[in-house]
Amino acid sequence: MTVGARRLHVSGDLRVLGDKSISHRALLLAALASGHSTVRGVLQSADIQSSAAVLRALGASLSRLAAITTIEGRGLRGLTPAAAALDCGNSGTTARLLLGILAAQPFSATLTGDASLSRRPMRRVAEPLRAMGAVIDTPQSHDGLPLTISGGALRPLNWTTPVASAQIKSAILFAGLCGGVPVTIAEPQRSRDHTERMLSSLGVDLRVAHAGAPNQVTLQPVERLPPFDTSIPGDPSSAAYIAALAAMADGGEITIRNVLLNPTRTGFITVMRRMGARIDTESQEAFGESLGDLTARSGTTLVATSIEPDEIPTLIDEIPLLACVAARADGVTTIRGAAELRVKESDRIAAIVQNLRLLGIQCEELPDGLRVTGAPGAPLRGRVQTFGDHRIAMAFATLGAVSGGQIEVDDPACVEISYPAFWRDVAHVTRG
Ligand code: S3P
Repeated sequence: MTVGARRLHVSGDLRVLGDKSISHRALLLAALASGHSTVRGVLQSADIQSSAAVLRALGASLSRLAAITTIEGRGLRGLTPAAAALDCGNSGTTARLLLGILAAQPFSATLTGDASLSRRPMRRVAEPLRAMGAVIDTPQSHDGLPLTISGGALRPLNWTTPVASAQIKSAILFAGLCGGVPVTIAEPQRSRDHTERMLSSLGVDLRVAHAGAPNQVTLQPVERLPPFDTSIPGDPSSAAYIAALAAMADGGEITIRNVLLNPTRTGFITVMRRMGARIDTESQEAFGESLGDLTARSGTTLVATSIEPDEIPTLIDEIPLLACVAARADGVTTIRGAAELRVKESDRIAAIVQNLRLLGIQCEELPDGLRVTGAPGAPLRGRVQTFGDHRIAMAFATLGAVSGGQIEVDDPACVEISYPAFWRDVAHVTRG
């Protein structure tokens, strides 16, 4: 797939698909609730299909993923053993959050994944769950999948994690929830807080403190989780590509409706504004989350910036895109404190550096980030290697659409993981 245009004018008023993080959590929580839940606007992508499939294999009854998805929950400890290994596909969120749930179920389960997920670290979740009493067999040869977990009665836990990770935090919260024991988790920075917000909105006693640790969350057990009816806002990580396209275009503006604007997810907007982009948001509260419309306008000169370690959790999935925006900005952009990128769907630091250099952009690889020397206006040409990573594909496709050159993406289909409508939406806003 090749994207490129001489002078790019954008226009459009659209909605992006439902938020991936909230979609996973909505399905998992609905499967653990006692009764019939309805989830509106769930993301219909490969990662969410992975969560739906493992929940069905564990005895939860889920309708086909659709605009309105219904789930018959099995209760906090009511899941049943699966007939085969649970295939989590490419989805780290499925694997890690599921481990928390399985830690409290009185049976064994084996988790597998595709080649990328099988290489991603699982000990960071296995260790606290072992400390709670779960028995987990991890591979000797590497930190990843497949692994087998035998759950049962759990002990309370007070855990400090060295990485700010919503997946680690959520796995522990799910284990406390399903195991009926109090848990406290402290992290060095606040990672995305959807699990906390959703549990609080379901009446779970959840306290967040900032004394002693930058972010500490304590959950008290409940007898049961009530069923719910919720609507999933648009994914800000998907909206980011469209907003960046508008900010880098030669003319026009784009409005994206109903986007999640939770402050643990909006670091991309903050950094883009700092780089000179005109992005306006109007937010309101709904279903325990902030959401609203976002308008991004072209016509400003983008300038380089420094993205600091403290900001990283709020924009972790947008770094490939920000590195591509930096390639069109005046000056040298530095990104530090992002070593976690090395254990995402690909080693994203290496993937970004390799691809930017291939396009002729000067780029320095750092252990925990990178430095990009922008070349505004330079025509860019080349075949980008995605490593099967959806965010690498979409970041470079966005750069291709605005760069006046020809950028080919080697695996356009990998956008199915999180944003199956990506190519259609890009075509929609760049038409004419
Ligand atoms: C996610 C958390 C983040 C993020 C991922 C989704 C989640 O990962 O990168 O795309 O839904 O909890 P980490 O928890 O590993 O930082």
